[in-house]
This record gives sequence, structure tokens and C-alpha cells, in this order.
Amino acid sequence: MPELDLPQRQVTDTLMLTGFWYRALPADRVHRNQLHKAMLLEIPLVIGRDRAGQPFALRDSCPHRGMPLNSGRFDGENLECPYHGWQFDAHNGQCQLIPSLTADQTMKIDRIYAGSYPCEEQDDFIWVYISDPGPQGAGFTKPAEAPDPAPQVEKFSEKYKLAYLQAEMPVSIDHGIIGLMDPAHGPFVHQAWWWRTRHSIHEKKKDFEPIPNGFRMAAHTPSSNSAPYKLLRLYADADSISTTIDFVLPNMRTETIRAGKYWFSSLTTVTPIARNQCRIDVVAAWNLFRWVPLVPELLKFVFAKFVEQDRRTMEMQAEGLEHNPHLMLIDDADRPAKWYFQLKAAHLEAKRTGTNMKHPMPGPVTLKWRS
Ligand code: FES
Ligand SMILES: [Fe+2]
Repeated sequence: MPELDLPQRQVTDTLMLTGFWYRALPADRVHRNQLHKAMLLEIPLVIGRDRAGQPFALRDSCPHRGMPLNSGRFDGENLECPYHGWQFDAHNGQCQLIPSLTADQTMKIDRIYAGSYPCEEQDDFIWVYISDPGPQGAGFTKPAEAPDPAPQVEKFSEKYKLAYLQAEMPVSIDHGIIGLMDPAHGPFVHQAWWWRTRHSIHEKKKDFEPIPNGFRMAAHTPSSNSAPYKLLRLYADADSISTTIDFVLPNMRTETIRAGKYWFSSLTTVTPIARNQCRIDVVAAWNLFRWVPLVPELLKFVFAKFVEQDRRTMEMQAEGLEHNPHLMLIDDADRPAKWYFQLKAAHLEAKRTGTNMKHPMPGPVTLKWRS
């Protein structure tokens, strides 16, 4: 039963959630002797690797007078601000040297910090943990610790291939996420002769259930109206193929496809860069077709095509959003989008009150739509 007959009007809040890990940069772009700029949740970052190759992330703004540190000198251990030469430990941001101090000036420089963020390399990406803004110690704030390690793409065998794709979109993270979960745009945005046409639209019914911090589209056999799935069934010689799709706050969509001993798994994130800018990063791992020439390339090509279609669509949407920031979410096709907003609100409420999050889904739900 639809909970409302009238479409709901909704405004996105463009609020970006702190207290989570975010993908900052592809790991293969960050080399030992270079410093890179990145932006997460409107926080400018400088990212690099120490002498041993360990990644680090500092706030790209010197605590002295705001100079970006990314053009400073880095010796593999300490980063030197290009303005007055203050030096900071690349990992914890602690000040190591203030060259202008004379021998009798006994300032406690070890109490000064350039903001630093927990940083990890995982599945081809440098991840940065954006902590909740702590007490504003204006340069005296010690680094926060991440409560959990950075998320991973789920893998089901020892040997696998890994690849990533990125696309930047001029929309808020909210639009990026609901666009990613939206089941109704497929026949219109993702048309291709080898995938499907708008005439293949038909009724679908999927079961959803609540999971911690998100929801799951329960394991199901993928839509039979697409050629790649038919091919996969043939190749894997499996009676059945099952797909599970999860969404988990703040921004993660995982998809797992299993066919006999073969599997394909992806972790897609929508990263808030600024209020009206986000980036989609898809990282996929698979053990399918590892030895069939060109198939990995083909898979990447297909994925890149989808992501590009989404990117172009959101670029056009951004034009319209400038003038009409209200959304009209309908049942059942936009129910996942509604859950996203409700999850976000429940998460913030739990944080505000210091209580456990009250999950907005009471239990399993079946949704129906045509796509
Ligand atoms: S602004 Fe960085 S040392 Fe002065
Ligand atoms: Fe899409």
C-alpha cells in the first residue's frame, strides 16, 4: 500500500555528514614525492605519501596564516609551509619547527597542529576519515581517530581483478545518491542496443529490508531483459544468478552478483566535494572472465558508458535545479530516495540526542514499479 497518494514535496538539505570515511583520490595518482590537492565536504586537503609510501591527509591551510600547504616542500616526513617555513609532521600534523623563533623564545610549538585526518589506502583509493568537527582549538586540535577501518569492496575468492571509474557531477550529494538508486530512469537514460531499449519496460517487484544504517534489495535474479545477464548465465553455467544491492549511509551502494563460483562485486560511493558538487567512484572486483581476452576491457567500457550517461543527465539536471529546488517523490519508484532522506534525518537525530538510531523502515517492504 502506498503510504501517500499525493506525491511528497521535498527539499534537499545539501547537508554533508561528518564522522565517516570518504574516498579522496585514486591511489595510483598519489606518488611518493608529490603533494596533491583534494576537497572533501568543502574541506581543502593536501594528500601525499611518506617515505615508506604510507598515505597522509592534512588540512590544506597552514594554522599560522592560512597558506595552502600543497605547494610547500616535503622531505618524506615533514611538510614545510611555503610562507614562513613552519614544519609539520605529515601524519599527525604536529608542528616541528618555527624558523623565526630565537633561542630564548620558548614557545611550545608541539602544541600547534595543522589539521590532520585519518587516512588509509583501500582497493585502489586513498580514503580519508572526516571526523565530526571537534572543539575548535584554532590550530591546537589533536588529530581524531577513526572508529573503524575504511570500507572495502567485498571479495569472494583469493584471486580477482579490480578496476575503478570516476565521474564528477555538478549536483549535491543528495541528488547524486538518489540518482544512483533511482530505478525508473534506466529505460530513458541507459538505452543502448546491447543493453535495452525503452520498449523493454515492464513491471518489476523487489523486496527490500532494513539493514544497519541502510536498506537492502534482497537477493533476486537480475532482470532478464538484458543481454549481458544472459551471456553471464551461459558462461558461468549456473542455474541461477543472484544480485544483492545495499545502500548504507553516508554514501555507499554495494552490488554483489553471484553465479556459481563466479562473482562480481562493486562498491560505489558518492562523495560530497562541495555543496553542489559530488563525485561518483565505482570500484569493482570480479573473478569472472579473468582469462577471457578483452572481457575486462569490455566490462569497463560498459560501466563507463553507464556512468557517463548518469553524469550527463545530472549535468543537465543541475541547470533545472538552479530554479526549482523542490522534489516530488512518488511511490513506489522513489521510495528508496525517501528512505535515504529518512535515514539521514534519523542518523542526525540519533547523534543530536545521543541515542540509538531509530531505523525509518519498520520491516521488509515490497516495492513495485515499471522500468
Ligand atoms: S602561513 Fe604558513 S608558516 Fe606562515
Ligand atoms: Fe543510472
